[in-house]
Amino acid sequence: MVAWTIAGAVVTGLALLLRWQRPAWYWLAFGAPLALVRVLVRYGSVMDACGLTVPPSRLRLTLARVTGSTVPNSRVPRILRLSVTRTGLVLRVKMRPGQDAFDYLASTDRLRHSFGLHGVAACEIRAGVVELRMTGYDVLRRVQMPARTDAGLLRLPVALREDGTVHYRDYRQVPHALNIGATQSGKSVYQRQLVAELAPQPVALVGIDCKQGVELAPLARRLSALAATPDDALAVLEALIERMEEIYQTIRREQRVSADTPDEEITADIWGLPEHLRPVPVVVLIDEVAELALSAGSKEEEKRRDRIVTALVRLVQLGRAAGIYVEVCGQRFGSELGKGITMLRAQLTGRTAHRVNDEASANMAFADISPDAVLATVQIPADRPGTAVAGDSSGGWVRIRTPHTSLRRAVNVCNAHADLTPELPELADFRPALGPVPVESLPVAEAA
Ligand SMILES: Nc1ncnc2c1ncn2[C@@H]1O[C@H](COP(=O)(O)OP(=O)(O)O)[C@@H](O)[C@H]1O
Ligand SMILES: [Mg+2]
Repeated sequence: MVAWTIAGAVVTGLALLLRWQRPAWYWLAFGAPLALVRVLVRYGSVMDACGLTVPPSRLRLTLARVTGSTVPNSRVPRILRLSVTRTGLVLRVKMRPGQDAFDYLASTDRLRHSFGLHGVAACEIRAGVVELRMTGYDVLRRVQMPARTDAGLLRLPVALREDGTVHYRDYRQVPHALNIGATQSGKSVYQRQLVAELAPQPVALVGIDCKQGVELAPLARRLSALAATPDDALAVLEALIERMEEIYQTIRREQRVSADTPDEEITADIWGLPEHLRPVPVVVLIDEVAELALSAGSKEEEKRRDRIVTALVRLVQLGRAAGIYVEVCGQRFGSELGKGITMLRAQLTGRTAHRVNDEASANMAFADISPDAVLATVQIPADRPGTAVAGDSSGGWVRIRTPHTSLRRAVNVCNAHADLTPELPELADFRPALGPVPVESLPVAEAA
């Protein structure tokens, strides 16, 4: 008896410890089996209570009337598949005639309460089939990226979505992006995560950080160029435009469209060039963009500001085909920053908004995309830095949170891949001056 009590106490203690420290393990060990049983047992009654059943068919009603048997029950949507994932359950159901995906979308909150799960999201898989993705616990409380992701060249796993799937930043699909958020909302950590993911890839990174380089200078070993003042930023942007124009010349030379050129060899961007001619793609990271777009009023500064904004607009308009991608971070990004800003914003397809202080800032990211996303952005709590709403131009949006990448980890990754840093001849003047070599890579006598 005593042994049983001790065993029970140990298992309960272990479960509580796991739940606190390793929610994913707790879910797989204890939560998922219980939730599976709960969903299967309650399925019919929950669907009925949530209004997701339909009345029996006329044929069955007539048969019941003719044979005098009891009236058949309403029809419950059929379960096609129920599977357990690292973060929750996935339930695929066949809709009944007369239902649409919106019925399920509208009931997600009711389903969440009825099944006792943390979150439920519905999406249509194909005509007649919806998938209910349910999360068993709050996956964004402590973000842990899965070990295996579907990453690729310029497709980076940057954050976890609310439904437990990975959120990717795919530069080839969405070349330029805007990232808005109040101070201390997690913008720089997001950018750091991007750098840490880009570091092992064959890309050049260019940093523009007018906060004297405090965020990006520590990552300098992996940066091909770094600008820490508006003057440098202007020179870097203009050098990038020069590079872009040269790349267009190369593409033009390679096109040689004639009747016998096979379709797949005609190219309008760098990805169609033969490998030996293909220039290395460049990702330009801009922290605190307002520093570039504001001017104190003197004529000279005004002129510099206009040139910077013009260069940025040209880069985002034409950069994609030349393999130049721009990632802009700022606290606000609206017309109060002056001429050309709204035009620049319109070219930044990817939108991410961290916590903001007012609706106007959220509008800068999402007003022209999705009003729901504005509301979701305003509701991000202050005690969860790194939480953001990510949207795209198609009107869809999701809540995401980046893992907490410390500056130390990002620096280590950048140092480990310093040998991959490409030399960009146009930007040679801005190659960051490197500090002392890290102690561990010095010969022992020197380090001592
Ligand atoms: N994903 C995250 N998880 C946990 N803490 C975070 C996360 N992102 C940011 N933080 C915390 O918030 C603080 C501010 O983040 P930071 O990126 O510097 O904000 P911003 O650049 O928007 O001012 C960081 O020091 C960090 O401690
Ligand atoms: Mg910052």
